[in-house]
Amino acid sequence: MKKNLLFAANWKMHKNPKETREFLAQLLERLPDFKRHQVVIFPPAACLEAASQVLSQSEIRWGCQNCYSKNSGAFTGETSAQVVKDLGGQFVLVGHSERRTLFAETDAHVAEKAKNAQELGLIPMICIGENLQQREGGHTQNILRAQLEAALAPLSPAQPFVIAYEPVWAIGTGKVATVEQVQQAHHWVRQLLVKLNPEKGLDIPILYGGSVKPDNAKSLSALPEVFGFLIGGAALELDSFLAICGDSI
Ligand code: PGA
Repeated sequence: MKKNLLFAANWKMHKNPKETREFLAQLLERLPDFKRHQVVIFPPAACLEAASQVLSQSEIRWGCQNCYSKNSGAFTGETSAQVVKDLGGQFVLVGHSERRTLFAETDAHVAEKAKNAQELGLIPMICIGENLQQREGGHTQNILRAQLEAALAPLSPAQPFVIAYEPVWAIGTGKVATVEQVQQAHHWVRQLLVKLNPEKGLDIPILYGGSVKPDNAKSLSALPEVFGFLIGGAALELDSFLAICGDSI
């Protein structure tokens, strides 16, 4: 496999600072020499400092699951991307489907958050994906286009960002998309990226997310347009996270 792969762990609202330290210390011990591949951990906001302490001298990168579009001010309960950067974080997850559906995040919010993160020098990992109704109604391609166009509109094409395609119906359900569905969606996303950004569109990593497990990682990572995974449930256990990484490379 010649591609550079990115393995991102989205812990959602799981683990406390002690568990974060223990997991990451073991990960550092057990992760094989990954050479050109990358690992990015998204712990809950309250565990970012713990992650920062354990990972500061390592190759493993980390980020926040959500940051507000302003860096300080009267925004009770929000997390500042500036603080994430000050702590040594490098990524911000933006527009995860749980943020969009449970916290009413719109395409416009996603775009503002991604832009702010990018302006600070952080790498936005922008999540897009259709829900079951949209897929069954034949609207997947249009939904992906609308989400992507909105998120990319304010971004600088010269600064890095990552796209994570996560069909909503496959997240946390155990119902992984078939290789054909993933291949088709990633192909559409790639075409759109090239259209929106002719110079860099071919280089932007597109990850797949949604019930990635050790038993499906190999077949999905073999797809030409899959450049890694955004992993939820299976990234909470070190053995399954390492198995996914190991099987994919
Ligand atoms: P899952 O979650 O791997 O548990 O389906 C993926 C995600 O929400 O990013």
